[in-house]
Amino acid sequence: MSDSTSDIRDRVQAVLPSVRSDLEDLVRIESVSADPARHGEVQRSAEAVAELFRAEAFDSVDIVTIEGGLPAVIAHKAGPEGAPTVLLYAHHDVQPENDHADWDSPPYEPTERGDRLYGRGAADDKAGIVAHLGALRVHGDDLPVSVTMFIEGEEEIGSETLSALLAEHQERLKADVIVIADSGNWDIGVPALTTSLRGLVRLDIEVRTLAHAVHSGMWGGLVPDALMTLARVLSSLHDDAGDVAVPGLVSGPAAEVEYPEERLRAESGAAPGIEWIGTGSTVERLWTKPSISITGLDAPKVAGASNTLVPAARARISMRIAPGDTTEHALECLVRHLEANVPWGATLTHTVVDTGEATQIDATGPAYDAARAAFTEAWDGTAPVDMGVGGSIPFIAEFLDAFPEASVLVTGVEDPDTRAHGANEGLHLAEFERVVLAEALLLRNLAG
Ligand code: BES
Ligand code: MN
Repeated sequence: MSDSTSDIRDRVQAVLPSVRSDLEDLVRIESVSADPARHGEVQRSAEAVAELFRAEAFDSVDIVTIEGGLPAVIAHKAGPEGAPTVLLYAHHDVQPENDHADWDSPPYEPTERGDRLYGRGAADDKAGIVAHLGALRVHGDDLPVSVTMFIEGEEEIGSETLSALLAEHQERLKADVIVIADSGNWDIGVPALTTSLRGLVRLDIEVRTLAHAVHSGMWGGLVPDALMTLARVLSSLHDDAGDVAVPGLVSGPAAEVEYPEERLRAESGAAPGIEWIGTGSTVERLWTKPSISITGLDAPKVAGASNTLVPAARARISMRIAPGDTTEHALECLVRHLEANVPWGATLTHTVVDTGEATQIDATGPAYDAARAAFTEAWDGTAPVDMGVGGSIPFIAEFLDAFPEASVLVTGVEDPDTRAHGANEGLHLAEFERVVLAEALLLRNLAG
């Protein structure tokens, strides 16, 4: 408790090499939750994570799985009598690496270049796991608080068995404060606390216009093909300004944050000449208004396409919903809109892929005071920005449902150029060091 900041800084320096090498070992495991062929790797990464906590002399370490789900790790280490319990969350599953050719170094071979360590999961979110680990190593066996680790294995596929996991292990997961290291900071050198996240609804739709493919010369002009029909359905999802045109979806106001145009251009990777879509402030469009993207399409390939009318075509719709909306309501609005916008009598069927609720956090109270003080120290006097993010962490709403009294702090290792989910995902190493320091200071402050 009386640990001075300079002692803690020294200890961060001492533990960083081991933390870095543990991160590299985790990145070498291809724990892609979206790929059933690699679920063995997800199991292996759960085991590797469990081993890391066993080595820290935790009181208990367990790998837990719900039938049909992927393994999570729950571990507990008691602090001083009467100290608060802090739950540290991260996830050990990763997104698919996609085309290896787009990477400048092999996705599962951690590689340092410039300021960064590259690799799938090097940031999202294996660095979240080892940031927690680093903070724990700094305190060693003098933990200022009791700690519960919850390292999930299916975050990237919508956390389907999470509510069952929370229910089954409710007693063990009870905490006064939870720290979710799965978001990021405002910029290199400028920390942030994430105070709002959008929710997610993913829906696969299929449009059918024919029982089977037929000659496009014989029947084109009379019978609509499914691909053209699907294009009409999809184009109904936005208005001419690029705002989402689905009636009924909730929008809210965003925090007053200046996000300069040059940063938006550089960080988004938008091609030259691309116009922004939608209306409202840019952070509203990113954080507190709904958005709809098409992330996949099943249709015949252009190479080899024959002169036939395509009988059926499919699309995956990825809809982000604003804090204040619910997935149940937003899904209902989306399906109603789609059904009202299928032209020419085509059949539209849909399947829900996954959903995750949005979150708006009340960023006040003692845990927030402790976090702001810790972050300001770790970033040498620069206070954290309260920011929103457009992405989703379904765990937060689920956890708050189960433990409404807990304070939730959303932190993380990402920066604007992390490229999570993309090729060349990379962790900014100097910023990572500050994240570890900030969390070590936070644990100290939370005890006070
Ligand atoms: N780390 C992200 C969440 C995030 C995104 C935080 C952007 C900060 C900025 C998380 O791992 C993620 O990608 N979540 C999925 C959840 C979905 C599958 C329910 C997402 O947002 O697509
Ligand atoms: Mn993540």
